[in-house]
Amino acid sequence: MDTISLILIISFTIPALSANPCKPSSCDTYLGPEVRFPFRLTNRHPARCGYPGFDLYCNAQNQTILNLPESGEFVVDHIDYSAQALFINDPDSCLPARILNFSLSGSRFRGVYIRNYTFLNCSSDYMDYTSTRYMPLFCLSGRNYTVLAMNSHLTAAHVPPTCRRIATVLVPLQWTVSQFYWSSMDLREDLELVWSEPACWSCENQGGVCGYKGDSGSEIGCSRPAKSGLPRSAKYGIIVGVGIPGLVCIIGLACYACGMLRAFSLRRRLNSDLPTTFSDQRPVIRSASGLDGPTIESYPTTVLGESRRLPKPSDGTCPICLSDYQPKETLRSIPECNHYFHADCIDEWLKLNGTCPLCRNSPESSVATPCSSMSISSSSSSTSTTTVN
Ligand SMILES: *[C@@H]1O[C@H](CO)[C@@H](O)[C@H](O)[C@H]1NC(C)=O
Ligand SMILES: *[C@@H]1O[C@H](CO)[C@@H](O)[C@H](O)[C@H]1NC(C)=O
Ligand SMILES: *[C@@H]1O[C@H](CO)[C@@H](O)[C@H](O)[C@H]1NC(C)=O
Ligand SMILES: *[C@@H]1O[C@H](CO)[C@@H](O)[C@H](O)[C@H]1NC(C)=O
Ligand SMILES: *[C@@H]1O[C@H](CO)[C@@H](O)[C@H](O)[C@H]1NC(C)=O
Repeated sequence: MDTISLILIISFTIPALSANPCKPSSCDTYLGPEVRFPFRLTNRHPARCGYPGFDLYCNAQNQTILNLPESGEFVVDHIDYSAQALFINDPDSCLPARILNFSLSGSRFRGVYIRNYTFLNCSSDYMDYTSTRYMPLFCLSGRNYTVLAMNSHLTAAHVPPTCRRIATVLVPLQWTVSQFYWSSMDLREDLELVWSEPACWSCENQGGVCGYKGDSGSEIGCSRPAKSGLPRSAKYGIIVGVGIPGLVCIIGLACYACGMLRAFSLRRRLNSDLPTTFSDQRPVIRSASGLDGPTIESYPTTVLGESRRLPKPSDGTCPICLSDYQPKETLRSIPECNHYFHADCIDEWLKLNGTCPLCRNSPESSVATPCSSMSISSSSSSTSTTTVN
């Protein structure tokens, strides 16, 4: 019976969809982004299915390609129609090479979070990959030289003597990744571009279909999906094909939930005799979520002295804002982790993210996997403020 109703559904919905010349399409059924208004695939959709400047096409590798007037071809990895954002990368997997010569002028897109980078070309004897200031770009490097990216806020004094400046470039990074933290992943992630025209986001959010109104003119409209568009026999097909298996599923789930509940109450009864364990008394801190004010305040702070000396491996620069530590500044360190930051910088980070931005360990889990073999003896008390001279 199920097979029959499935055939009924397919035979009634497929002709209805294929009649629409602008129906969503993609270059790769499994991996490619769905392409629909304001985008179109030039080899599959007529011109009126897309907005000017939003043409895409499929290359021989089934990648979805966007051609930016000033910067050439990029792969579109994802399109977020509600946020009016698209995520692009280099088809040859060397994004830094494309960033060196990147411009959005002439396109309909702009960056949402733009960061300035300075690219350096260094002789290979300069190999300090551990410094958080420089990010090696291996796909641009050769056997005798290494290309590094450096945050442009750093000055000429930060350019190592064996390096020379190649260029300073503006890079449209992904907002979520890059908001706070200078990460070595930044230039390997997709670039994020957004568009404002045509504004289809509210239509998208209501589940509508955005597109040109009528066969001519430039007016954009939003059509709601038809509520009673299906023939009656297709509706019966859906009721039989989806309704009955759905009911069976719900009954199955209910039985499963009943079983779980019974097992849970049994376990609770068994456990109630045991003393409360240590972990029950502590607030549960998940690494994905932020910490509360009192927890952050409990992390040790240090007021820098004139020598600005800190325990290793700190290199005198705050990894978050990338400015050098100055005497009398208040730094905060993450317990067990030995990484220092400006208190103002790390506090903002910890409110959103419970982990150390350098080693990604949360203080709660770092006992099991310490990220540094050294521990700070001067800050053994959790609320201490140390002064370094
Ligand atoms: C591209 O997709 C088509 C089917 O849509 C498939 O036959 C072909 O092998 C794919 N090509 C590559 C390079 O994956
Ligand atoms: C930058 O890219 C454009 C478009 O692909 C190209 O015409 C131009 O020669 C490139 N410039 C450099 C310096 O590579
Ligand atoms: C990027 O850096 C260049 C050179 O240092 C500077 O002229 C420009 O104003 C900076 N742009 C932004 C947006 O920070
Ligand atoms: C870096 O310098 C080397 C020579 O030292 C040169 O061959 C190479 O093309 C340079 N790379 C870039 C990206 O400028
Ligand atoms: C690069 O290094 C190799 C040895 O590692 C050397 O033979 C070659 O001459 C070097 N090339 C340049 C351009 O310095």
